[in-house]
Amino acid sequence: MNSTNSTLKIIKVKDRNEGGKKAFELIKEAIQSGAKVFGLATGSTPETLYRELRESDLDFSDKIAINLDEYIGLSKDHPQSYHTFMKKQLFDYKPFKQTFIPDGLGDENTEPEKYDKIIDAHPIDVQILGIGTNAHIGFNEPGTPFDSKTHKVTLTQETIDANKRYFESEEDVPRHAFSMGIKSIMSAKKIILMAYGENKAEAIARTVHGPVTEEVPSSILQTHPDVVIIVDEEAASQL
Ligand code: GLP
Repeated sequence: MNSTNSTLKIIKVKDRNEGGKKAFELIKEAIQSGAKVFGLATGSTPETLYRELRESDLDFSDKIAINLDEYIGLSKDHPQSYHTFMKKQLFDYKPFKQTFIPDGLGDENTEPEKYDKIIDAHPIDVQILGIGTNAHIGFNEPGTPFDSKTHKVTLTQETIDANKRYFESEEDVPRHAFSMGIKSIMSAKKIILMAYGENKAEAIARTVHGPVTEEVPSSILQTHPDVVIIVDEEAASQL
């Protein structure tokens, strides 16, 4: 069943496979309407969407991708870097005209401003988002100002715990990241947020029904004019 909560359109799907197909359809429609710049996300959530894109006949050779974030301290070719993730999930199969991801080895004083210039030069048509169990978007943790641009983030213990499954041990998880800010995410014309599984249910309920507060970064989406939230039954269970 689909429902509309003010500006948030909620699409309930059976599972992440169906969710990937729904998101794919939305991207295809956006491309038909002229979308050229895609804000892309990492994590396990968008993987089924990227599979649909890989297997499709869509052409991205005139499109631009701008990723949300990168761990500080990881080189581009580090196995757990988001550069590596994006290459393996999408870019090796679907070449884009240009792709941008913050440089995890970039200078902390200049990398954020450099990235903001890239975002300003290429306004995002469609932003893909996952969500953290604490409702972070990108790596914008609770308490991040809504008017933030690209910045250095200190990851919360909750995020470190959630992401340690990708690393050999918890000590290997970087403690910091560069993340696109909430203001830049909100500047996208259209936002597609996906969430699957019981551990996202509370974050989704707070995104949709909770007060709009910097303690719940995703709650700001309630004020965006075009947001689609794709959720499976478990992630929708507290709505
Ligand atoms: C990381 C990423 C987020 C992502 C989140 C959820 O923290 N920076 O962009 O939404 O993980 O990850 P997953 O989709 O694996 O649950």
